Amino acid sequence: MKKILILNGPNLNLLGLRNPGVYGNQSMEQYLEFLRDCYRDIEIEYSQSNHEGELVDLIQSIGYDTDSYSGIVLNAGAYTHTSLAIADAIEAVAVPVVEVHISNVAAREPIRHKSLIAPVCRGTICGFGMDSYRLAIEALI
Ligand code: DQA
Repeated sequence: MKKILILNGPNLNLLGLRNPGVYGNQSMEQYLEFLRDCYRDIEIEYSQSNHEGELVDLIQSIGYDTDSYSGIVLNAGAYTHTSLAIADAIEAVAVPVVEVHISNVAAREPIRHKSLIAPVCRGTICGFGMDSYRLAIEALI
């Protein structure tokens, strides 16, 4: 069974509590139950970290295992807009990475309009609420 890693960056451990007007009121754990139910023939792994270097480590640790992994669904949170280190890690690995955002970052503050990771990702899905994660999985399978 092929795997997909959903990797969330900083503050996304607070989904369900954080800014519900923007990010909704569902926790990631609740949403993962739904996703795993939708895709019974894919192993959906999940990790979250608030630390940039840990996100780099996680991308590196599975990023060459194309036999096991169909892809990484990455919501890098605020590091999207700042992290050359995460962009370099994505560029370095062989497993495709799809960039995801829950909110429509293009409709938010100008600082969120720039993504340092977009050029090295397979594609970007943004603005569909939690469904952005499911659409990214669809793009990878
Ligand atoms: C986000 C958008 C980012 O700008 C923000 O820093 C986040 C979440 C989103 O999913 O909409 O933490 O990636």
